[in-house]
Amino acid sequence: MGGVQLQMVGLNPGAGSSEEVAAAARMVALTAALTRHGHLYHALNAPEISDLEYDALLRELEQLEARWPAHKQPDSPTSRVGAPPIAELVPFPHRVPMLSLGNVFSREDLGDWVEKRDEKGKVRGGLMSALDRPADAPALQFSVEPKLDGLAIELVYEGGLLVGAGTRGDGSVGEDVLHTMRTVRSVPLRLGEGAPPYLSVRGEVLFDLAGFEQMNEQRVIAGEKPFENPRNAAAGTVRQLDPGPASQRPLLFFAHSAGEGLAAPTHSALLAQLRGLGFAVNPRNRVCAGVDEVWAAIEALGAERGSLPYEIDGVVIKVDDMALQDELGFLTRSPRWAVAYKYPAARARTVLERVDFSVGRSGVVTPVAVLAPVRVGGVTVRNATLHNEQQMRNKPEFLGGLRVGDLVEIYRAGDVIPRVDAVVDQPGRADLALVAFPACCPVCETPLDREENPDELDKITWRCPNRLGCRAQREAALQHFAGRLAMDIEGLGEKLVRQLVERGLVEHPSGLYHLSVGTLQDLDRMGQKSAQNIIAAIEASKARPLARALFALGIPLVGESTARDLARHFGGLDALQAADEAALLAVDGVGKDVARSVLHFFADEGHQAEIAALRAAGVAFAPEARAAAPTEGPFVGKTVVLTGTLPTLSRQQATALLEGAGAKVSGSVSKKTNFVLAGADAGSKLEKAQELKVPVIDEAELRRLLGLDPA
Ligand code: IVH
Repeated sequence: MGGVQLQMVGLNPGAGSSEEVAAAARMVALTAALTRHGHLYHALNAPEISDLEYDALLRELEQLEARWPAHKQPDSPTSRVGAPPIAELVPFPHRVPMLSLGNVFSREDLGDWVEKRDEKGKVRGGLMSALDRPADAPALQFSVEPKLDGLAIELVYEGGLLVGAGTRGDGSVGEDVLHTMRTVRSVPLRLGEGAPPYLSVRGEVLFDLAGFEQMNEQRVIAGEKPFENPRNAAAGTVRQLDPGPASQRPLLFFAHSAGEGLAAPTHSALLAQLRGLGFAVNPRNRVCAGVDEVWAAIEALGAERGSLPYEIDGVVIKVDDMALQDELGFLTRSPRWAVAYKYPAARARTVLERVDFSVGRSGVVTPVAVLAPVRVGGVTVRNATLHNEQQMRNKPEFLGGLRVGDLVEIYRAGDVIPRVDAVVDQPGRADLALVAFPACCPVCETPLDREENPDELDKITWRCPNRLGCRAQREAALQHFAGRLAMDIEGLGEKLVRQLVERGLVEHPSGLYHLSVGTLQDLDRMGQKSAQNIIAAIEASKARPLARALFALGIPLVGESTARDLARHFGGLDALQAADEAALLAVDGVGKDVARSVLHFFADEGHQAEIAALRAAGVAFAPEARAAAPTEGPFVGKTVVLTGTLPTLSRQQATALLEGAGAKVSGSVSKKTNFVLAGADAGSKLEKAQELKVPVIDEAELRRLLGLDPA
């Protein structure tokens, strides 16, 4: 323990007695020593002292800080724990946007991707044409890194001290999580030698897997719900107001790039600089030349994947040469100089315990496979949708229909919901009981209606016709009504809705408006304060604008964006209710099916009574107040469709900007669409636009047309 040397830097001026001077000096030295040993342990995995010795130094420092609080160092390791909760998460703007990555899924795609960069690398600066380049030119180098499956975080350092930490959010604004991130042991509170005056570092915070399992076991023992997977647990821990749990949990932070503050000739050199400054940089990062080496590194990581101490969901491949990175530049939301290789979907085998039949909001009955719990791709899967009766009975891979006790193969690709892929044939399988689709609603026992779908002949839907009488449908309708995109009643979640319906306290949405604090307080696990909050939230929902209230009604085929179109077109509920088919078809984006569904909905006496009851209870169905429309500009009177994720603007922000400029934002692309505003991962709407030759613009173009500053 003799390694702690007194350093006379960082001493607080004004230290009085000689005892105080000595204490202050010792505090500076202890802080530096603990920081160094913490770094050796957490970032470099190469401790020099035992845990016991470390704890003894920490206790000594704690005691000195308690006695001489004025001399506590700003980067003291004691400040990682024991801080009080914060009041709320506040926005954290990123000075340089945090981007995402494009994906490749095969060696072939990767080969194409590498080749394009390689060409560019070899003809760089226009000195050489692609055709003239020597065949033996060295292969381009890439930094090949595990794609860590955690939460993306930016850390900000000023004068070498940690002063900010934020989540990625939408890429331009995240949430401030400094209070929790400063508890993560591998996050340096003070940087080493050579720190720039301002530095922003990006990386990933994630759980140590063994620690995650242990934590979950303890949660189960304590009667708490275990976390579904390490990534959600990391996000849930870092985004808490109270830094306590974060300081107790085994979170890791690896730095993988810098936003501002560092310059290096290559990405790998930048990573080395970050390591030198005190960050943990993943030891499995490799520099590879050419596609063969890159692929070999991907395969090696793939083989190691199951035994790594944290979860990865792929491999990130980055052009190592920074000058070439600059030259390659960016697409809308991702760099051209980096790409993510995603491993194939995770698969697993488990036993089909039974099939449940769930009744949705519209009464459609969906078969759901109940499985013996199994871990696939980082989550524990307990059930999986089987979509419909035909799938369940006729999917060829199900070998003549699912049987209770079948061994089934399931898979999960990335974030995608798990699916049952196939039945594994086994001796004795024929003796297992075939799963039968019920003839009656599993909840209210009404015989089910069979509906054929004219578009998809082999798709038959079974529906419980007892709409307003079926408890399952009432629950689903209430949940939809209270949902975030509908009436947005905070606190009215699944469990509460179930209790309200089961106890007969609420039958239809209008019933919510007759609840009282007293009634709610009698329910399970409901204190006076939460009851008051929920009643206040219900009250506040009365003022929701027409578009949301329409969406909340749950008219079949009327999604959020169609509800907005209808609200805008008719301006009020009376006009909409009075509309005939022709009037409905005149609305942009409304086709025959939607028009009929709306007519059918409002013709129903039950629905009419419910709407009257909502109005009587004070629900306003208020047309949205609109600012005076502009009369000139590129978007006046134009119909625009949004698709994909924009680099900095949220969907709501883009909609507001466009509407403010006189455009109408619609949900589906048709010949009447004037522009499509597309971002990353745009799908079928973009294809449709290209098919119909509708001009496609990106966010940069939108900003230019609106005369806004670039993001
Ligand atoms: S580089 C623009 N390197 O993956 C470059 N990202 O899709 C993006 N991620 O949430 C960052 N491991 O936080 C980079 N070794 C790695 C990474 C990594 C995980 C995350 C990143 C972001 C997402 C990008």
